[in-house]
Amino acid sequence: MFRFRSLTVVSAVALSVAMSGSAFAQTVLNFAHSTAQNSHYSMGVQAFGKKLSELSNGKFEIREQAAGALGGERDVIEGLQIGSVELTVSSTGPLGNFVPEALVLDLPFLFKDYASARSILDGEIGQELLDKVSENNLVALAWTENGFRHVTNSSRPINTPADLEGLKIRTMENPVHMEAFRAAGASPTPMAFPEVFAALQQNVIDGQENPIPVITASKFWEVQSNLTLTGHVYSPAIILASPSLWDGLSDEEKGWFREAAKVAVEATRAKVESDEANGVELLRKNGMNVVENVDKAAFQKAVAPAYDTFKAKYGDEMLKRIQAAQ
Ligand code: PAF
Repeated sequence: MFRFRSLTVVSAVALSVAMSGSAFAQTVLNFAHSTAQNSHYSMGVQAFGKKLSELSNGKFEIREQAAGALGGERDVIEGLQIGSVELTVSSTGPLGNFVPEALVLDLPFLFKDYASARSILDGEIGQELLDKVSENNLVALAWTENGFRHVTNSSRPINTPADLEGLKIRTMENPVHMEAFRAAGASPTPMAFPEVFAALQQNVIDGQENPIPVITASKFWEVQSNLTLTGHVYSPAIILASPSLWDGLSDEEKGWFREAAKVAVEATRAKVESDEANGVELLRKNGMNVVENVDKAAFQKAVAPAYDTFKAKYGDEMLKRIQAAQ
């Protein structure tokens, strides 16, 4: 079911560098993600590295592998499972292909705002889902954040769902998102994120959808002229470790990684907040036409069939719990 692309970088756990003249051994760990250096994910990775280095007195150092340097999110998750990458922060885009229970989080218009999404993911429901992820040859350290997703394209301003008709919109490799865009009349085109900029530039696709922190960090204004603030789905992110790294750690060391993950979540959320506050203006300044007044109820209605498909396949127990919690 899964594509396998061989990753070019050998596991950095193997790179235990003995410091000359001392017994001190430093382990350098690859922490991969798909967004640009200094993006919201990058801020989290940098904060994680700083905290982990402090707590371990320099025993563990993080090497940030940004902008898809080790492949797309799906490739990297496979890399964690086989032990060729140690750590990642990923959207839930490909996660449901590994852990179907996580797909509920991808339903459009499920979370009403940032506050509810964060409190649910930081609470009992979030912990249950992290535990499910960890049953699938992955180690889930924390839920973090990508943000509410919006649609960009270069064909026309999207004012109503009807304007999506026939547009080739790149979605994540996620069946729930694909179903939602299909229901709204678009032609969903799943693709790994590192391929998206070039695909937009070459007009292989008309548009894509991502949160403001991703649209700004990726400079999508260079290849997209229209943005509509649909906020059609909250996009959680998850910090994952490879079981082969995890199984070699002592309990004390595992505690350091968990602590570092908490600090990473705070740093990422802070950057999401500042990008949400300043990003739309930046995109306008760079020439994007922004449709701000969106009839969200109309978009919600257009993507509603995705709920029926989801319930028929996966049931609605967790869905109801999430709805009841906000
Ligand atoms: O669109 C995606 O694939 C994701 O939102 C991204 C940009 C890789 C961040 O997780």
